[in-house]
Amino acid sequence: MRHSPFSACSIARGEVVLTGQPREAGSQKGRYPRLVDWLRQMHARGAVLCSACSGIFLLAETGLFDGKDATVHFSYAQQFTAAYPAVAIHPERVLVIAGLREDLVSSDASTTWHDMVLYLIARYAGATDAEEGARMYALQWHQDGLAPYITFEGKSDRAADDGAPADPVLGKTKFYTCYGCHGVEGYRNAYPNYRVPKLRHQHATYIIAALRQYKSGERPHPTMHAQAASLSDQDMADIAAYLQDVPVNPAAGAAAPAPKQLSACTACHGENGLGVEAPLNPKPPVLAGQHADYLEHALTSYRNGRRKNIPMNGMAQLLTSDEDIKVVAAYFARQPSPLTTATNSSKVSCPGASVVRFSAK
Ligand code: HEC
Ligand code: HEC
Repeated sequence: MRHSPFSACSIARGEVVLTGQPREAGSQKGRYPRLVDWLRQMHARGAVLCSACSGIFLLAETGLFDGKDATVHFSYAQQFTAAYPAVAIHPERVLVIAGLREDLVSSDASTTWHDMVLYLIARYAGATDAEEGARMYALQWHQDGLAPYITFEGKSDRAADDGAPADPVLGKTKFYTCYGCHGVEGYRNAYPNYRVPKLRHQHATYIIAALRQYKSGERPHPTMHAQAASLSDQDMADIAAYLQDVPVNPAAGAAAPAPKQLSACTACHGENGLGVEAPLNPKPPVLAGQHADYLEHALTSYRNGRRKNIPMNGMAQLLTSDEDIKVVAAYFARQPSPLTTATNSSKVSCPGASVVRFSAK
């Protein structure tokens, strides 16, 4: 695509139309009607429509992707779904090829346009040329997909398929530096002041996801970053196996009538804060019995965007006042729960149990 939308519209024929990132992606529905019209015409004349990153916003406006699969950089996924609910979006996929003629092609985050270009070269010039190009420019296919970059989108919690199975007994040993804070009942983070979260019996997949986010810096907390930075995937799996111990079962029914602010939360966290029977990965954290001040801190961080998570950033917006946050946090905190502070005397009750391992393949 040429730079100016209007000069592009003067092109009458072409096999491939490629849209890049429009500025202020997503906020410009209806802004380029001529260009959108032109895209439809080009498609009708046989062109393949391709997008890189948020370029899919412009292509989706044609309506041609309705009912079809596509991908977009995960940081735009929520915004995209809100604007184009009829498109099935897969932010964990590098390249999505849809349409009867394989005529609707979208690529995901930043450099995955390389994958798309290699695909197009293979398609139009042949596999040898694509291989040659890849070799020349040392381009690698993003064969792991984008799940490793999106914590919530991480793939299934299959049983250990790489590395050793998670070992809760080793995990307990590896947790020794963590007792200093997490092993002390009611231990407080200084600024801002809130109690450190209870970890014992929290879901293993969530513990691993959280540690990865701290390690990468995506979830900001300097001390936890320092703690997680030295942990390998195996260490995290072992620690998570120790902390989770016997998996939490989302029991039915809540102890108290739930406040109205909770209606949007129960689909994932259950009415009692123990979660739901659903194949979510990682499992949303157990909220029941967690410290209320920690829950408030977490919700405030999601709401102001400091802590990033696609579903939770949206959910926290629904709690419009600080009072709403307090009500919800207090409610979950007083629900019956297996969550406890992990102390040195916590017993490992299922040594050798096959505990799920987060694999971001
Ligand atoms: C100096 C105190 C301190 C130490 C030591 C520490 N943590 Fe933490 N940890 C915290 C605080 C504070 C938070 C909450 C941070 C936030 O707001 O995200 C936290 C959060 C966590 C969470 C996220 C829990 C949730 O519900 O989201 C996990 C998992 C965790 N820590 C694991 C560990 C492990 C494993 C170690 C040892 C390798 C460790 N921590 C050592 C203070 C500590
Ligand atoms: C679509 C599923 C979903 C819905 C609906 C949802 N959550 Fe969550 N929630 C999650 C996931 C997943 C996480 C973990 C996110 C992360 O890694 O930061 C989470 C994390 C949290 C945490 C952080 C807990 C911790 O230990 O750090 C709190 C608090 C929370 N949710 C409260 C709520 C509230 C209150 C609502 C309703 C307004 C809600 N959630 C709705 C999926 C959901």
